[in-house]
Amino acid sequence: MQVFITRRLPQPALDKILPECDAEVWQDELPPPRDVLLEKARDADGLLTLLTDKIDAALMDAAPRLRVVSNCAVGFDNIDVPAATQRGIVVGNTPGVLTETTADFAFALLLAAARRVVEGDRFTRAGRWKTWGLTVLLGQDVYGATLGLIGLGRIGAAMARRARGFEMRVLYYDPVRREDLENALGLTYADLDTVLRESDFVSIHTPLTPATRHLINAATLAKMKRTAILVNTARGPIVDQAALYAALRDGVIAGAALDVTDPEPIALNDPLLTLENCILAPHIASASIATRTKMAMMAADNLLAGLRGEIPPNCVNPEALRNRR
Ligand code: GLV
Repeated sequence: MQVFITRRLPQPALDKILPECDAEVWQDELPPPRDVLLEKARDADGLLTLLTDKIDAALMDAAPRLRVVSNCAVGFDNIDVPAATQRGIVVGNTPGVLTETTADFAFALLLAAARRVVEGDRFTRAGRWKTWGLTVLLGQDVYGATLGLIGLGRIGAAMARRARGFEMRVLYYDPVRREDLENALGLTYADLDTVLRESDFVSIHTPLTPATRHLINAATLAKMKRTAILVNTARGPIVDQAALYAALRDGVIAGAALDVTDPEPIALNDPLLTLENCILAPHIASASIATRTKMAMMAADNLLAGLRGEIPPNCVNPEALRNRR
């Protein structure tokens, strides 16, 4: 079995994979360019990919032996899953193990934006800290404020649990209503407009799909409070970035903290970089040593199961096996 792994993995994951198959690991820090990926996929039975690798129908057609794509991420919008299913290729992802780590970071961004932590650091380093002043870098209270969650999957729910410690009122919008979580976590279900209108903090926890692309746009931003802060740890294209820039510049909303942008990395001439009221992190919400190792182990298990012709333990399209060539 031949496998191409598109980036170096934590050693325990490689130790699992390497004895089982003939694996090549791409050693660069940057993703393999498209032509390299196409060439490596040509003879591959399995691919272990990151979210930076675009796995589309054209690539699958150039990879006649491919039977499993194991993505080392919970999100899988980089993969054309219907195309994979049609071709009998199972797709794995890494849900669960990154939930708490990602929610920790989303809450860290929320706190940092509310209390202007990053601006404060810049202020200090620039020598602008002249005295303790009553009006220096005033921010917003988190304790007791209203948090609006867009998406109540695992990470959204973990965010809600953190908000309870801050005695926040938590509203959520999700196409799937979760009355069990409403009762357990004291959440209130609301339509998207209500979440946008009433929240002091809006945090995005939905996958990127055609329905969520640019869900946050000029019209939806205009519904938010002028004092509101937007947090995005999901996927960049859920937010219309040009509209967000205009909203932050013009005071339509007060601030934003983004771990994900469109594109990634964000262009260095993107006007968002000029704004003090926008925190920009380099897509690191799940980046703890322990969690990244767990993700890689899970991706290894998914890969190996797929190579054996089994449904991977975490598979987004188990029905693909029925279409196996
Ligand atoms: C990271 O963004 C992931 O989807 O795991």
